Amino acid sequence: MKQDLLLTGCKLAATQQDENAYGLIAGGAVLIRGNRIAWVGDADNIPSEYAGIETEDLDGRLVTPALIDCHTHLVFGGNRALEFEMRLSGASYEDIARAGGGIISTVKTTRGATDDELIELALKRLDDLISEGVGVVEIKSGYGLTIEDEIRMLRIARRLETLRPIKIVTTWLAAHAVPPEYTGRSDAYIDEVAIPGLQQAAAEGLVDAVDGFCENIAFSCDQIERLFIAAKTLSLPVKLHAEQLSDQKGALLAARFGGLSADHLEYLNENDTAAFAASGAVAVLLPGAFYTLNETKLPPVGALREHSVEMAIATDCNPGSSPISSILTAMNMACTQFALTPEEALLGVTRHAAKALGLSDQYGVIAPGYRAELAVWNVDHPAELSYWLGGSPLHNYITRRATI
Ligand code: NIG
Ligand code: FE
Repeated sequence: MKQDLLLTGCKLAATQQDENAYGLIAGGAVLIRGNRIAWVGDADNIPSEYAGIETEDLDGRLVTPALIDCHTHLVFGGNRALEFEMRLSGASYEDIARAGGGIISTVKTTRGATDDELIELALKRLDDLISEGVGVVEIKSGYGLTIEDEIRMLRIARRLETLRPIKIVTTWLAAHAVPPEYTGRSDAYIDEVAIPGLQQAAAEGLVDAVDGFCENIAFSCDQIERLFIAAKTLSLPVKLHAEQLSDQKGALLAARFGGLSADHLEYLNENDTAAFAASGAVAVLLPGAFYTLNETKLPPVGALREHSVEMAIATDCNPGSSPISSILTAMNMACTQFALTPEEALLGVTRHAAKALGLSDQYGVIAPGYRAELAVWNVDHPAELSYWLGGSPLHNYITRRATI
């Protein structure tokens, strides 16, 4: 057990729900005990019993909870720069997918890569995120599309947690695309791969949640529903790539299953936001994919706000629609493209992202009982985290992950 640690001289953006924007405490202090936060408050009110505890003065720096990237496809082989060129010459994401490129081209390069190769590539992206204060990353399968290859992806994702001071959350995304061996037989793919593979992966303890791609070029709501029923039988939470390219009513399906989140949502109909809001699911916005695909249809941010839907922001790091491994860039894009406020962007990568991963009671807020995972920044105001582009203003990252 590590010694207690008292942080002083902090400008805290605690992201708690209180009357101050950002949950700001200008002259703050934090007491860390073991791997948890034990006390947070004004430095003038530090309880006298803490006198003598090892103290670190942060010199007025901004302190936030560790950032959370709640939607990534971080483990993959190869890249799709040639598709980027094709899109710039007029081909659409759907055209490329229908011609056998898109996700399927990454499936081929991922299946063909060794575990060590995939780990090395993923670590590079993970290190990019860590250099920007990220302490929790969700990673999906979805580029294997056989039971063995999907399970291999989740094993590799879990392995990353042993190689870096980071928490990894794994998601089963076998229902990402129909592989060539199942062309024209997508129902059979759900029944023979997506569902039995999930049962096997869950039995091995590799799955934290279940996701799917509900879209014309992927799977229908009916097919996803069958997968979700299997997930519920295993007591696993669900989430969905919904309304990215068209309005399939995927968000409502996720809501009906008590989903953690629906993600993308550019084509979510405003009239469906009330029903979505009632479910308590998080809207995960992915501005990197909007940007990369040159999308013009904006997610209905105003309606989401009006119905008090919590919005998270993530990189969606993947080789096709969002080749981005910078959470700060995603925050900036959420502000410039989706008109989120910098405060909403910070909540989107802390408190709301934690909720999207089912981790609200442990991560995303600086408050007693939460994990002592903190990012310390060389900036004066939290709005700067969404403002600067390029270079990381991270000063250091305080983690007690190895301490129990
Ligand atoms: O979130 N939409 C589906 N999945 C990814 C894209 C994956 C890919 O193109 O490789 C996304 O945008
Ligand atoms: Fe995605």
